[in-house]
Amino acid sequence: MEYIYIGNVKIKKTAALAPMASVADRAYRILCRSFGACYTVSELISSKGLCYNDKKTAELCTVTEKERPMALQIFGDDPEFMKRGAEICMKYSPDILDINMGCPVPKVVNNNSGSALMKDIDRACEIVKAVKSVSGVPVTVKFRKGWSRDSVNAVEFAAAMEQAGADAVAVHGRTKDQMYSGTADRDIIKQVKQAVSVPVIGNGDIDSLESCLDMYDTTGCDLAMIGRASYGNPFIFDEIDSYFSGKPYTPPTIEKRMEVMLKHIGLILENSLKKESLAMKEARKHAAWYLKGVYGAASFRNRCCTLESLDDAKKLAEEVLKAAENAGQK
Ligand SMILES: Cc1cc2nc3c(=O)[nH]c(=O)nc-3n(C[C@H](O)[C@H](O)[C@H](O)COP(=O)(O)O)c2cc1C
Repeated sequence: MEYIYIGNVKIKKTAALAPMASVADRAYRILCRSFGACYTVSELISSKGLCYNDKKTAELCTVTEKERPMALQIFGDDPEFMKRGAEICMKYSPDILDINMGCPVPKVVNNNSGSALMKDIDRACEIVKAVKSVSGVPVTVKFRKGWSRDSVNAVEFAAAMEQAGADAVAVHGRTKDQMYSGTADRDIIKQVKQAVSVPVIGNGDIDSLESCLDMYDTTGCDLAMIGRASYGNPFIFDEIDSYFSGKPYTPPTIEKRMEVMLKHIGLILENSLKKESLAMKEARKHAAWYLKGVYGAASFRNRCCTLESLDDAKKLAEEVLKAAENAGQK
C-alpha cells in the first residue's frame, strides 16, 4: 500500500471522498470512510456564517474520529473573514483545512467566492496566506480547470496557490461554465501535476475502479477523489481499497445493498440534530440511490418519497428483496 502526505497528514493512496454539500454529510462520510474512502472533506462552510456565529456551525464543523483524516472546507471572498473562519474551524481539530475555489453555484460566485476566485489570483493568494497564518494544519485548495473555456488557468492558478503556501491542490477537470456537463478533462490535471511539487488530488468523473486507475495513470496525480459515483454506492471505495490492498473484492448482493441502505439511514438519524421525520426527508434521496438497478426500481424509488421512519425503510427493503426473489434476481 502506498501513502501520500499532505503536510504531515498521512493518507492511503486509494480514493478520497469529494466534498458534496447536502449529500456528503457526517453520516455519508462515516459510511464511505468505513468502506475504505481514505480521506474525507466536509461540505462547504461559509466563513462569514462562522464569524456571525451561525447556529449550524457546530453541526458543520464537528469532526468525529470515524471521519479522519478529514478536512473542513471553508469558502468566502474576504481574507480577514477567511482567517477568522479558519480560527473557528480550528477549535474543531480538523486534520486539514480546505479552501473552496471551485464552487460554481450563483449564490457563491455572485459573492466573488468559490470558482470566482479563479478570476482573481491575487485575492486567492491573500486568502491562502490568511488561512495559513492561523491554521497550524495543512491548507489545501480545491478548484476547477478555470472559469470558462476562454480562461482556462488551472496550471497558473495551482502554481500561485503553491507559492502562497497551499500544501496540496485538488483539481476538478471542468470549467465553472461547464458546471457538471461534458466530461472532466484529465489532461489539465496532468499539466497541474507537472507544474507543482505539492500533492495533486485528481477529481472528476471517476465512476469505477478502472476509471480511478486511469485517473492515476493518465494524470500522475497523487490522490484520486470521488464524488457522485458514490451515491448509493460506498462499495466503490471498498473495491478500490481492496485492489490496492491486494484483497479480493466481491460486489454487493441485493441483500448487502439493502443492509447498507438501512445502515446509512440509521447513521443519518443518529447524526442529525433534526427530528426523525425531518432527517428522513434527507434520507429519501439516499434510499432511492441504493435502488438503482433493482427489480422494479422505478416504483420503489417513488416509494422513497414517502419514507417517514427507519421502520418504513425496513419494510421497503423487505419488499425489494421479495420482488428480486420473485423475479429470480437473487
Ligand atoms: C451535490 C454536490 C455538491 C457539491 N458540493 C461541493 C462542496 O461543498 N465543495 C466542493 O469543493 N465541491 C463540491 N462539489 C463538487 C465535487 O466535490 C466534485 O468536485 C464534483 O462532483 C466532480 O467529481 P465527481 O465527478 O466525482 O462527482 C459538489 C458536487 C455535487 C454533485
